[in-house]
Parts: sequence; structure tokens; C-alpha cells
Amino acid sequence: MVIRSIVAGVGAYLPARAVTNAELAALVDTSDDWIVQRTGIRKRHLAAEGELTSDLALHAGRAALDAASMSARDLDLVIVATATPDETFPATATRVQAALGMTRGAAFDVQAVCSGFVYALNVADNFIRVGQYKTALVIGAETFSRILDWKDRTTCVLFGDGAGAVALRAAEGEGGKKDRGILSNHIHADGRHHDMLYVDGGPSTTQTAGYLRMQGREVFRHAVTNLSAVIDEALAANGMTAAEIDWLVPHQANQRILESTAKKLDLPPEKVIVTVDQHANTSAASIPLALDSAVRAGKIKRGDVVVLEAMGGGFTWGASVIRW
Ligand code: UT7
Repeated sequence: MVIRSIVAGVGAYLPARAVTNAELAALVDTSDDWIVQRTGIRKRHLAAEGELTSDLALHAGRAALDAASMSARDLDLVIVATATPDETFPATATRVQAALGMTRGAAFDVQAVCSGFVYALNVADNFIRVGQYKTALVIGAETFSRILDWKDRTTCVLFGDGAGAVALRAAEGEGGKKDRGILSNHIHADGRHHDMLYVDGGPSTTQTAGYLRMQGREVFRHAVTNLSAVIDEALAANGMTAAEIDWLVPHQANQRILESTAKKLDLPPEKVIVTVDQHANTSAASIPLALDSAVRAGKIKRGDVVVLEAMGGGFTWGASVIRW
């Protein structure tokens, strides 16, 4: 017998305001055509003034708990994956914990930018597997609109705000690939690539939050290579082939990255969950937002093999294999 983390519920939240490409074309020298052709993005949601990452996270977290029929009293752990915390400290997760009315257990943030959700899921799964906790709420929440240079057309058109969450619960499994729950997680980092994707500020450098800077073409190139390698690693660890994947739920950065990854795996496009057109790149929130949309659309069903993958600043990247 082994302990597995079952995904008991999924939730998501998007700020009310949706902004189209045409609206951005009034701000910077870009066009709907360029954005759609190069990225697949059609719109993104932006947080209202005063609406914080913790607000988005709380909505998504509550929705995941409701879907799991769990209450904050049942929770042992809250992790928020974010690169846009409310404040430098304390962790955004502690604000969410307080707002949920949870007065026990642990709460902290995980920072791995766009790979943050996979990293946080790995951390929560490990706590559950070793028996330290029985339940966890893992939230990916971001307000990237606050760290975008709205004069830089090469980055400001690419990102959006949002949050998604999963509620995890410990269950017993046999230890094989037929078990329900998270089967394995695989995370990586290579800090030599800092300059390709970073924020040019922070408490220790400029004492300001700074703005996102990216060498998009280089990030793209690394993303395609690293993502297919980590998916191969994840499948091999479970003795699976790509044909056994029911749903690929990728980090949503660029439609062309999603297509090349699926092509490398020989996976039909219908098995890839795509939300980049609707949400743009919401960093750590993109995978749980995509999971929520696929679950609510009735696509992901109990017993399905779901593979998550992401790549982001650091570089960091990773994948998780889940039997739903
Ligand atoms: O989530 C973390 C991971 N992040 C990613 O995975 C992002 C990966 N990168 C990408 O998605 C793509 O590289 C981008 C969408 C960022 C850029 O697409 P690209 O096909 O790599 O374009 P490019 O950077 O090579 O730029 C092509 C041209 C340039 O003009 P010149 O030098 O050819 O004259 C850019 O200045 O497109 C120009 N350009 C734009 N034109 C209109 C760049 N941004 C824009 C824009 N509107 N918004």
C-alpha cells in the first residue's frame, strides 16, 4: 500500500474585465493579427484596481474546496504558487488561509514562475505521500498585469491575470500506474538562463517590484526542448507511452508551443487542453485554469490519465502525471 494524493476538486477565478487584442493595439504598436498568428491569444482578463493576487486565489481556492465538498476546517496545508505576491512578505498563502477561516495547519508560497503550479503540486503531494498531511489546497494565482511594462509590445500582449486551484486528499493506492491520484512529479531548474526571462526589480535589488523582461524567441526554443524531454521522463517513470495520455494540460504560453509539444508526442490536438486563446499566459495560474475548464466541460473524467507540464523563468520546468 502507498499513499496517493487524489484531486478531490478543482476551481478557478478570472477577474471580470476582459481585454481584447484590438484594445491593446490602441496602447502599443501591435495588431490582433500579429498576436493571434504568433501566440493564439485573443483576449486576457485583467484584475481591477485594488483586486489582489490573494483575492483571485481565495475565489479559486473556495471553488476547489466546494467542488471537493471540503471545508477550510478539513485543510492541513495551503500553498499558493505565485510570482506576483500581494506583498514581499508575508506569503500570499497566509492571507488566503486567514480569509478561508483556517486557523491550523501550514501556509506558504512557492515561486517558480510559470512552473509554479507543478512545483507546488509536487511539494503538496510529497507532504501527503509521507503522511505528514491528509489534505492540501494548491492554488496558482497571478496578477502579471502589475509587473508588465505596458510600453513594451514584445511582452505586454502576452500575459493575463487569474487563479486556479486543486484540493488534494490522501487515499490508499497499490503503487502502480492504475492507482487514482498523482502518480509522479518531475521538476527541474537551470539557473544559468536567468537573463532570458526575469523581472528587473525586487526587494534586494531595486526596492521596487520591477517589470518583466523576456527574450521570447530564446524562451520558445528552450520550452519546446525541455517540455518534450520532461514529458518523456514522466511517461517513462510510470511505464507509460504517449498513447496512454487522455489529456495533456500544458502551461498556456503560446499556441505554437502547445502544437509542437503535441506533435512531438504524436498526440492528436483534441487531447490537448487549450485556454491560451481566452486567458493568455497567466503564469502559475494557467494549468489549474485549464484543468478547471476541461473538468467543467466534461472532458476530464474519473480514471483518465492527465499530464500537466510547464516551463518558465529560471529556467524552471516540470511535469506531473495524474490518474483522475
Ligand atoms: O510562460 C513562460 C514561458 N514563456 C514563453 O513560453 C514565451 C515564449 N515565446 C513566445 O511565445 C514567442 O517567442 C513570442 C510570442 C514572445 C514572440 O514570437 P516570435 O515569433 O518568437 O517573434 P519574435 O520575437 O521573433 O519577433 C518577430 C517580430 C519582431 O520584429 P522584427 O525584428 O522581425 O522586425 C518583433 O519586434 O515581431 C515583432 N513584434 C511584434 N510585432 C507586433 C514583437 N512583438 C510584437 C507585437 N506586435 N506585440
